[in-house]
Amino acid sequence: ARVAVFVSGGGSNLRALEEAMQAKKFAKLGVVVTNKATCGGAQFARDAGVPVVVYPPPKTAVETDDEVAEDGVQLVEALQSHGVNYVLLAGYLKLIPEQLVAAYTRRILNIHPALLPSPFGGKGMYGQRVHAAVLESGAKVCGCTVHFVDEEYDRGAILGQRTVDVLQGDTAEDLAKRVLAYEHKLFPWCAQALCEDRVQWDDQGVPWIVDD
Ligand code: GRF
Repeated sequence: ARVAVFVSGGGSNLRALEEAMQAKKFAKLGVVVTNKATCGGAQFARDAGVPVVVYPPPKTAVETDDEVAEDGVQLVEALQSHGVNYVLLAGYLKLIPEQLVAAYTRRILNIHPALLPSPFGGKGMYGQRVHAAVLESGAKVCGCTVHFVDEEYDRGAILGQRTVDVLQGDTAEDLAKRVLAYEHKLFPWCAQALCEDRVQWDDQGVPWIVDD
């Protein structure tokens, strides 16, 4: 299998996924897609010799040899030209185009640093804001979620979750760090199941991992 990983930031989830793919051989990193050509995740890809596609197109032309997808149709064409079978959103902050959701139905996963479905998801809920909202709510448990992606932010069917305790005196920073360490375990575990075709769906449209 070949995967596309979408990033907008440092790319620690991308690195964790790449490490797992190299160790467990369940897929190869075919392409990295980013909305920010200068982000750490894109640089990691270039250093690893992995093609980078910029989407949405940058406002000012980027001075790199990255490909640029001008719209959703071109994005799907770019992924198909790189033989991509599955799409993993790893800290990608833009909404993905409907053409991508349609072309890769039940083959797109996202990692979210909170327990969905909850008030800690949806548009604008990303990064420290999520953890600040968790602290604000007085919740004693937080965590991370891997879910399938549809047209809305953070709304698709949940495939995997990991709860993480909120400790006395935790700051949003502390939570973010503790949760991120578990994201790096949960996402590769779910991605491997998807790439190895070990995700089954029941007739209510609920997925679960088998034979791992
Ligand atoms: C992670 O916390 C992820 O859950 C969220 O954005 C962050 C990405 O971090 N979607 P990184 O770029 O993978 O380090």
